[in-house]
Amino acid sequence: MRTVILGSGTGSNCKSLLESQASNNLGSAKIVAIFSDIEDSGILEVGRHFGIKSVYLGPYNISPDTHGESDHEWISAVDQEKPDLIVLAGFMRILSSYFINFFGSRIINLHPSLLPSFKGLNAINQAWEEGVKITGCTVHWVSRHLDMGKIIDQRAVRISSEDSLDSLIRKVHIAEHFLLPTVVENIAKGTHTFPYCD
Ligand code: GRF
Repeated sequence: MRTVILGSGTGSNCKSLLESQASNNLGSAKIVAIFSDIEDSGILEVGRHFGIKSVYLGPYNISPDTHGESDHEWISAVDQEKPDLIVLAGFMRILSSYFINFFGSRIINLHPSLLPSFKGLNAINQAWEEGVKITGCTVHWVSRHLDMGKIIDQRAVRISSEDSLDSLIRKVHIAEHFLLPTVVENIAKGTHTFPYCD
């Protein structure tokens, strides 16, 4: 299952996928390329460290409903990798509807909340400010509506009275590092995991 990762950030989730692949825990999934819209992003360094093709494709500055030149370049670069799966691992741009239609139901996104709660940016802060006692992370198929595609799997995180926003951020990231490789492995196997709560 040829897998392409798109990301803009530190790349800790990309790293967890590459470590899983190195330990033969991603099934038939094979990460073939990593693309970023941020030239000095950690995710590109992570990819290069693991010897994976890791490329800065330039800014992704297009409105979700248009099909601009930067979108065309992105579609072409991703398509050349012949991906069976595209993983958004901290990709901080909204993909155009043209991109989503082009690749169809092959795109998944990792989101740091239990969707449908706390969509959009700063989801962990949103959960913290709301005072919920359980939050977590979600992997879902990408649709044209932000953070609203069909949920594939989730992992819950309990917020205790001893937590701070910083400790919650750490806990959600740890949960993400378990969830994303599990989902990719299960997509490769053609199965899905059951919801998990700790
Ligand atoms: C993760 O929290 C993910 O849920 C969100 O962006 C963050 C990416 O972190 N979409 P990293 O770059 O994988 O460390």
